Amino acid sequence: MAESDPASRRPEGGGRRRGALARGLGYLDWVFNPFQRRDVTEVYDLLGTGAITAEGLYLNLGYWEAADDLDAASDALARLVADTAGMGPGDTVLDVGYGFGDQDLLWARSHAPAQIIGLNITASQVAEARRRVGEAGLEAQLDLREGSATEMPLADASVDAVVALESAFHFRPREAFFREAWRVLRPGGRLVTADILPQPAATGRAGRLKQRLSWWLVASRFAIPDANRYTRDAYADLLDAAGFTAVAVRSIREQVYAPLHQWLRDHPETLQRLHPVARVPARLARGIDAATLYAGLDYVLASAVKPQ
Ligand SMILES: C[S@@+](CC[C@H](N)C(=O)[O-])C[C@H]1O[C@@H](n2cnc3c(N)ncnc32)[C@H](O)[C@@H]1O
Repeated sequence: MAESDPASRRPEGGGRRRGALARGLGYLDWVFNPFQRRDVTEVYDLLGTGAITAEGLYLNLGYWEAADDLDAASDALARLVADTAGMGPGDTVLDVGYGFGDQDLLWARSHAPAQIIGLNITASQVAEARRRVGEAGLEAQLDLREGSATEMPLADASVDAVVALESAFHFRPREAFFREAWRVLRPGGRLVTADILPQPAATGRAGRLKQRLSWWLVASRFAIPDANRYTRDAYADLLDAAGFTAVAVRSIREQVYAPLHQWLRDHPETLQRLHPVARVPARLARGIDAATLYAGLDYVLASAVKPQ
């Protein structure tokens, strides 16, 4: 049927409305149903490209030491990861859980590694990220693929750095990712993650209850498996056990949660970028103080080296 035929456009419009309705119902279920258990790709398919950044499509919480908006904070977190990994010209980098590829587009210019290979399990993000790489003319440098952190389609000892920017908490389990990272790294290669963990236990029952609730809210909405629920000391032990040396796991939570929360409070207009149903919990969350909302959440920058 010709495109100009109104009858041919009606189903498209109807399809769009049905799509919007399905997304709204999906959000309602995801946000308010305590028993929903979406897997990670279902969560990110639902979120789509509805990020609250103004410019890019980052999906991380940002590093706020010197940033004054979410785009700058997300860039700063990406730069912190790349700097910690010592990323530079000549390197082959593996970026695991790359979202829409924002950090790869940044690193291609800021740190200029020879190549970045990306693995992401969410096909809808892979398609959009690849489109953006094409638009930027960076196909030779950025090879963004669909694939899993726990079964990497890469040869042993083939990369200089493995990075996971706010994604390893999803991996099933994270330990399998550590083993795969060790396998694909060359001797002397570096692993760096920016990662979400539970906070070490507070003293007092009320404090621990607050922590459990805060962790559960995030873990149950964002498909974090129970196997990944351990604190930073255990994280370091697991990196040691996987064969890494120079293991460092440092909390940067003070530069993440509270300043992000304050920025969201100061900029209510940013929530307008979210789906209308998603704005409801975001507004509720803004009314809670940061110490309570994030009581159960640590945020770490972890680094380790594969021995020579
Ligand atoms: C919070 S987003 C972070 C995206 C991006 N790094 C950023 O900072 O904007 C987490 C990402 O991890 C990806 N992911 C989750 N589990 C994965 C797995 N097992 N293997 C590869 N990617 C995975 C998701 O698809 C998503 O892109």
